[in-house]
Amino acid sequence: MRILVTGGAGFIGSALVRHLIGETDHEVLNLDKLTYAGVLSSLDPVGNNPRYRFVRGDICDGALVGRLLAEFQPDVIAHLAAESHVDRSIDGPGAFIQTNLVGTYTMLAEALAYWRGLEGERRDTFRFHHISTDEVFGSLGEDGFFTETTAYDPRSPYSASKAGSDHLVRAWGHTYGLPVLVTNCSNNYGPYHFPEKLIPLIIIRALGGEPLPVYGDGSNVRDWLYVEDHARALRAVFERGVPGETYNVGGDSERRNLDVVQAICTTLDRLAPRADGRAYAGQISFVADRPGHDRRYAIDASKIKAELGWAPQIGFEEGIGRTVRWYLDNRSWWGDILARRYDTARLGLAQA
Ligand SMILES: NC(=O)c1ccc[n+]([C@@H]2O[C@H](COP(=O)([O-])OP(=O)(O)OC[C@H]3O[C@@H](n4cnc5c(N)ncnc54)[C@H](O)[C@@H]3O)[C@@H](O)[C@H]2O)c1
Repeated sequence: MRILVTGGAGFIGSALVRHLIGETDHEVLNLDKLTYAGVLSSLDPVGNNPRYRFVRGDICDGALVGRLLAEFQPDVIAHLAAESHVDRSIDGPGAFIQTNLVGTYTMLAEALAYWRGLEGERRDTFRFHHISTDEVFGSLGEDGFFTETTAYDPRSPYSASKAGSDHLVRAWGHTYGLPVLVTNCSNNYGPYHFPEKLIPLIIIRALGGEPLPVYGDGSNVRDWLYVEDHARALRAVFERGVPGETYNVGGDSERRNLDVVQAICTTLDRLAPRADGRAYAGQISFVADRPGHDRRYAIDASKIKAELGWAPQIGFEEGIGRTVRWYLDNRSWWGDILARRYDTARLGLAQA
C-alpha cells in the first residue's frame, strides 16, 4: 500500500511511520508543516529508507495536497496532523480552528476529488482514516466508559475542534460516499513524546531537580495507551476496518494523574537515583488546576478487539519503564527541543 500520513513528524504520526516502514512493506509519504510540535529527528530511524518520503507543507494548502495526491497515488490517507495540546488551545484557540477544522476540511475536499478519479478496485479499497481523541466525549463520573455511540460533549477548544473535524469526516462519508474511518483514542505515551505533555514533562523536570507540577489534587483520571500499541491499532483499522465505522482505541490502563507522576518517580528512583539519595516524589508540587479540567476519561475498546483482533500489548507499568528508560537514553532528542523551542513552563491558565 501507499500511505499518505499527515502530521508524521509528531508524536503519534512518527510512531506510525516508524511502524509502517519497520514492520510492513508499505510506502509512506509524510506531509507535515513542522510546527513547534513537529520533530524531524523522530524519523531518523527511517529517514534513509527508500519507502519513506517527507514533504514539508500545510494541510490547509489545498493545491499542495491535491498535487501530492496526484503524484503519490495513495491507497490510504492517515490524517493525524493537528494542534494537539489542550493547554495551548486555552491560550490560543485560533490555530486549532485553522488546522483541525479548516485543515481537515481541506484534506477531505482534496481526498474526495482524488477518490472520484480512481477506478475499479483502487476506488473500492481507498480509505480516509481520521485520527481523533476520546476528549470529544466530554467527562465521565466515577463509573462508565466511552463507547463508539457515546454522545459528543467536548469542553475545551482543543476537543471542540477535534469534535468538529470528526463530524466533517463522517459528513463526507454520508454525503459523498467517501470511504472514511474514524478512531478515537485515549492518552498516548511513550518514546518521542513532546516535553509539554504530562509524562515527558515530569521525567525531564524530575531529572533537572525541578518541581513536578500536578494540576489540582491530581485525582483526574486518564486511560493510558502505549504509542506503539496505538500505531498497530491504526494499521489494523485502515487495513481491515469497515468504511463508515468508528473504533475506540484504549490502553486498559486507567490511572489518576497523581499515580502516573508517582509511578514515574518510583521508576526514576530505581533507574537514575538522585545524587542526594532522596526520593523524586519529594519534588511533587500541587499547582492550580487546568480551567475546565475534565474529571475522567475511560475507553471501552471492545469493538476493535472483537472485530479487528487488536488489543494493547504493553501494560502501564511496563510502558512507563520503557518510556523512562528511553528518555534517559535519548537526552539529546529532548535536550535539543528544550534548547530551541520549549522550556517546560506552565501553559493554559486562561488568565485575563
Ligand atoms: N497524543 C495523544 O495522546 C492523542 C490522543 C488522542 C488523539 N490524538 C490525535 O492524534 C493526532 C496526533 O497527535 P500527536 O500527539 O502526535 O500530536 P503532535 O502535536 O505531537 O503532532 C502533530 C503534528 O502535526 C503537524 N502539524 C500541525 N499543524 C499542521 C498543519 N497545518 N499542516 C501539516 N502538519 C501540521 C505538526 O508539525 C506535528 O508534527 C492528532 O490529531 C491528535 O488530535 C492524540
